[in-house]
Amino acid sequence: MATVNDNFLALRSNYLFAEIARKVAVFKESDPDRRVISLGIGDVTRPLVPAVTAALRRAVEEMGEAAHFRGYGPEQGYAFLREAVVEHDYRPRGVDVAPDEIFVSDGAKCDVGNFQELFAKDSIVAVTDPVYPVYVDSNVMTGRAGTYSGGRWQRIVYLPCVRENDFVPDFPGTRPDIIYLCYPNNPTGTVLSRSALQGWVDYAGREGCVILYDSAYEAYIQDPGIPHSIYELDGAAEVAVEFRSFSKTAGFTGLRCAYAVVPKGLRIDDGRGGKVGLNGLWNRRQCTKYNGCPYIVQRAAEAVYSAEGKRQTREVIEGYLHNAALLGDAVKKMGLEIYGGVNAPYIWVGVPKETDSWSFFDRLLHSAALVCTPGAGFGASGEGYVRLTAFGTPEDTREAIVRLQEQC
Ligand code: MLT
Repeated sequence: MATVNDNFLALRSNYLFAEIARKVAVFKESDPDRRVISLGIGDVTRPLVPAVTAALRRAVEEMGEAAHFRGYGPEQGYAFLREAVVEHDYRPRGVDVAPDEIFVSDGAKCDVGNFQELFAKDSIVAVTDPVYPVYVDSNVMTGRAGTYSGGRWQRIVYLPCVRENDFVPDFPGTRPDIIYLCYPNNPTGTVLSRSALQGWVDYAGREGCVILYDSAYEAYIQDPGIPHSIYELDGAAEVAVEFRSFSKTAGFTGLRCAYAVVPKGLRIDDGRGGKVGLNGLWNRRQCTKYNGCPYIVQRAAEAVYSAEGKRQTREVIEGYLHNAALLGDAVKKMGLEIYGGVNAPYIWVGVPKETDSWSFFDRLLHSAALVCTPGAGFGASGEGYVRLTAFGTPEDTREAIVRLQEQC
């Protein structure tokens, strides 16, 4: 009989957002008349902008015409999108990235989950705590995390991001091989200054680590001093892979498009006394396991960079940032501790003293039909907090504030 990969049995029972969805479904069944408002999973609510839907329609038409039909596309993404990424996301920031360093995909979640395959099984992984659970769970699946006890995986190096260090991770005592950083941060909504990020790039260069930098939320940065890309920092192209997404930038959570930047200068030990480039290995991996993001979706993503697309998506982002500001002000007035929500669509809220994050989640769900994400679900240092997203509709955000005020 076939035997399971027992790393999968080591996983916590449910993926965080699946567990929350399960609890919400049970609640809805028990109380079908209550209208549930979700400020839980970071899913967008505004529709795709007209520039994107027009490009999608055009591409769908092309696919129905013999002269324009396309079958398998390049596994790395079409040149038109890779070039647009370079032209619009990097060149204006003075960052020199080449199109063949861009790998288009169907989501940053898959990319950040899959990229760890390129590293030796005994590599030491460091994550900030609290953390987007995909970084940890994907390493558990590979058998890199060790055993779980006291709320932590014993082979993972945790970098607490807490009030006491102003949510800026300190360098670890143990040298990791791989460091996951996500800024603007999911879940805390906090950012890293240019000098703090430079510190991490320098650390990685000195210690021979690779930084897996998730910048899915960079479009929410409002403060001009905060870097949008890790490659704005000196030396980053030798130590970092960057992950970007159209999900939160242009409402593609249901359409699916993202990209990873794997610089050709990023080389690691080949275990035989030489070096090997991650760009070539990621290319090899993608060609083997992935057939490319759909043509029509890549045309839709390209349209995000048109003048109309930029203006329209900017308006949407500003709407979400307005929600974040409303939520932030209201939470402050309630006297709760609050972080984030200024350069990010997430707000990190301290729960009332007498409770913990899952209990507060349950209370909001059952008493207010309001969904948040319990901080403890993101790691031990998330205990005592919940995450609220600004991705709701303006009406739901206002209604959520009223419901929260009744509870706090
Ligand atoms: C979140 O809520 O943290 C994100 O939406 C999840 C994701 O992007 O996969």
